[in-house]
Amino acid sequence: MKAITIVPKVKGSLSVRDVDKPMINSNEVLVKVVEVGMDGTDKEIGEGLYGEAPEGSEFLIIGHEAIGIVDEVGSNVKDFKKGDIVVATVRRPDNCINCINGESDMCLTGNYTERGIKGAHGYMTEYYKDVPDFLVKIPDAIKNVGVMLEPFSITEKAISQIFAIQKRMIWKPQTAVVLGTGSIGLFGAMQLRLRGIDVFSVDRSDPSSIKKEIYDAFGIKHINSSEKGLDALPKEIGKNIDIIIEATGNPDSVKASLEIIGINGVDCLLSVTGGTSMKDIDIAKLGYDLVLNNKIVFGSVNSNRGHFEMGVEDMIKIQEEYENILEKLITRFPISDFKSYEILDDKSRIKNVFVM
Ligand code: BGC
Ligand code: ZN
Repeated sequence: MKAITIVPKVKGSLSVRDVDKPMINSNEVLVKVVEVGMDGTDKEIGEGLYGEAPEGSEFLIIGHEAIGIVDEVGSNVKDFKKGDIVVATVRRPDNCINCINGESDMCLTGNYTERGIKGAHGYMTEYYKDVPDFLVKIPDAIKNVGVMLEPFSITEKAISQIFAIQKRMIWKPQTAVVLGTGSIGLFGAMQLRLRGIDVFSVDRSDPSSIKKEIYDAFGIKHINSSEKGLDALPKEIGKNIDIIIEATGNPDSVKASLEIIGINGVDCLLSVTGGTSMKDIDIAKLGYDLVLNNKIVFGSVNSNRGHFEMGVEDMIKIQEEYENILEKLITRFPISDFKSYEILDDKSRIKNVFVM
């Protein structure tokens, strides 16, 4: 069967290869891939900045956001049947206490693998196999948008972490700022709105028509920070900023998030920002401010099965209440169009999806 591959750390190494179709054992499920979404991590892999091949392989089958149909189940598999629609999680556990208890997103050793990213083949191929633990069933109501469940689960994790952390006090959050309006920023903003929080979605341009539609439907307020800058946000918003989700990965934005989070607030850094960037930060002032105002800054990565399941619930809610608005985020291409990563460069599109 055909698989879309790269050679890790080699820019421009995208190629179609013939690989063996996976054979399942009695505990496994064979999935026929239907669609694969791409994100910033994929772009970095394409540029040779990120990604690791499985041990013993010189190439990596890419793709970590995929929806597919169960094609065959092993004789011991109870919960899945041929024809079920599924999305697979990304991380595969190591043997630390978190990993063996279903929290590989909180792995202690760093020796986890991630399908399509780090040390394990991904889903941009005709078939993949996995065990039921890592497969999440997609109800019909969201099958046309289920390809976005993986990135959607990333913000589900971040938000559930925010609420878990804030159990440290009596906390009635009212105001959130989401920095960045890529798919992660938009998902975060929508999910916070579902929880009744006032959301300010911030980036450096006026919203496209699709984004505007989302803001209007969800009652999200948009701020174009290009003129006044991020430092002006607390004044512009005029309320205590209880929550920040930083989803740009831009060092200036990360820095600003540290400086504008409100009293008792929580700042969640959600972007994998590589490279180095020197910024002047007044550490004394930052420390003083964090301490005197009980502020928290934390990072969140990946998501586990529970977060995918939360994502299914929220996606169903959104599909029901907002008339299939999620599908407007998707631009679909036949897989034959994926000849180079340049196809991902058009910033006006939100989620690029390849139909296999
Ligand atoms: C994926 C996560 C993954 C992270 C770091 C993201 O694009 O959605 O599942 O943990 O990259 O590799
Ligand atoms: Zn682990």
